[in-house]
Amino acid sequence: MHILECKDLRKEYYSGENIVSAVDGITAAFEKGSFTAVIGPSGSGKSTFLHLLSGLENPNGGEVYYDGKPLSGYNDNQLSILRRRRFGFVFQAYNLVQELTGYENILLPIMLDRKHKDEAYLKKLIEVLEIEDRLHHLPSAMSGGQQQRIAIARALANKPAILFADEPTGNLDGKSGREVLSLLQLVNREFGITLVLVTHDLSVAEHSQRIIRIEDGKITSDSLPV
Ligand SMILES: Nc1ncnc2c1ncn2[C@@H]1O[C@H](COP(=O)(O)OP(=O)(O)O)[C@@H](O)[C@H]1O
Ligand SMILES: [Mg+2]
Repeated sequence: MHILECKDLRKEYYSGENIVSAVDGITAAFEKGSFTAVIGPSGSGKSTFLHLLSGLENPNGGEVYYDGKPLSGYNDNQLSILRRRRFGFVFQAYNLVQELTGYENILLPIMLDRKHKDEAYLKKLIEVLEIEDRLHHLPSAMSGGQQQRIAIARALANKPAILFADEPTGNLDGKSGREVLSLLQLVNREFGITLVLVTHDLSVAEHSQRIIRIEDGKITSDSLPV
C-alpha cells in the first residue's frame, strides 16, 4: 500500500521577473514502512519537494495524497492536525528549546497535542536512540549528535506514520553523522515508520532502500526495483 503519493507536483517561485520551477512535475509513490533517500545537487528542489510532500507548502499544480486522500481536501486546521499527528520532521538545525531538558523537549509535541504519553513507547524510543544519559541535560550540555538524536525522538514522540528528514546529518562530523543515520535506519525498521530523507551525501543515501535523484526540479533517476 502507498502511504504517500504525489502526481505531477509543481512549485514555482518568483524572483523579480524570473520564474524558478523549484519542483517541475514530480510523480512518485512511497510504500508504507519504506526508506527513501532523495538526492541531487544544491538548488535542485529537494527541500521544496519535501515541503510539498509534507504539506508544509502548497503546490502550484499537482496533488499529494496521504493514505489515498488528497491534501488539497484538508482545510488549514485539518492539515495542521494531520501534520502534527502523522508527520514528523527533522532538519539540519536541531531547533531544540534551549531552556528545556532533553526529556522536556521530547515531550513537547505530546503536550501541545494534549495527549497522554505512551511511556513504554517513549522508553523504547529513548533506548533505540541511545539518549538515556542526556534526558535531564539542557541542549547546551549536549554534542551536536546528541542534540539531533533528541530532535529525532521529539519528531517521533507522537508516533508519526512518516518521518521527513532534510539533511539531518548536515551539521554533524562524519562519525556522529553516521551514527545518526544508522539510528534513523533502525527507527525505520523497529517502528515501521516511513522515512523520506533528503541528502546531498551519496554515502548517506546508500543506507536507504531506494534513491530518487532530482535535478532541476525533476526526477532523473529512481532506483525503485520494479
Ligand atoms: N522561498 C523561496 N523563494 C524563492 N525561491 C526559492 C524559495 N525556496 C527555494 N527557492 C528556489 O528553488 C530552487 C530549489 O530550492 P530547494 O528546494 O531549496 O533546493 P535544494 O533543497 O535541493 O537545495 C532553488 O533555485 C531555490 O533558489
Ligand atoms: Mg535543501
